[in-house]
Amino acid sequence: MKVVAGNWKMHMGPDEASAFFSRFTPDALGDSVRVVVFPPAVSLRTARAAAPKGVEIGVQNIHPEPSGAFTGETSAEMARSAGASLVLVGHSERRHVFGETDEETAGKVRAGLRAGLIPVVCVGETLDQRRAGKLETVLRRQVEAVRAPLGDAPSFMIAYEPVWAIGTGETATPEDAAEAHALVREALGDLGGAPILYGGSVKPGNAGELMASPGVDGVLVGGASLDPESFLRIAEAA
Ligand code: PGA
Repeated sequence: MKVVAGNWKMHMGPDEASAFFSRFTPDALGDSVRVVVFPPAVSLRTARAAAPKGVEIGVQNIHPEPSGAFTGETSAEMARSAGASLVLVGHSERRHVFGETDEETAGKVRAGLRAGLIPVVCVGETLDQRRAGKLETVLRRQVEAVRAPLGDAPSFMIAYEPVWAIGTGETATPEDAAEAHALVREALGDLGGAPILYGGSVKPGNAGELMASPGVDGVLVGGASLDPESFLRIAEAA
């Protein structure tokens, strides 16, 4: 079964989330695809209530602590009670815009598991790292940082998202994706049975060939997940 996940980033407040789901009606998808949407925290409850049956909801980010004096933050437990069943951890924007470290990423994986959320851990290299021949080193380091907590997880997913392909219109070739997915799977070792998704400028026009690539178990879609028709076409491509 392929996974098609949409990361709405800082788009789609509650009103827009419910409008999205009034137009996202995936009745023909059946059992071949698992659809997940990651709305902003403020829209979780609305999205959970409005999403069609079978569509799973996840939170984009959590704080490692369950509660406390952390103004502006959302805990895993709160996200869960608002309707999330998955959590996105280590997205490249968290790592590169907000400066999150591998250690913080591991802490958020632990927090998500504590609350019963399924972690979706994002990994991926920058263009400079790729050009310097560090693809394997970077992926290994990012996977190694979360291997211990993931070892205790009832289930989890990894999303390989080359930073140079996120929001740029530049997509990895199916061969690039297959190579990186194999490296991630190798780094996971005995945990390598988990689904590994590809992310980075996935669109209706390229989703099918990416998902047909060896070892690509689904896609994590940013921009193209904001439009119900295009997200539906991507889900159909699975
Ligand atoms: P994009 O984003 O599809 O807009 O490139 C992917 C992501 O950041 O998860």
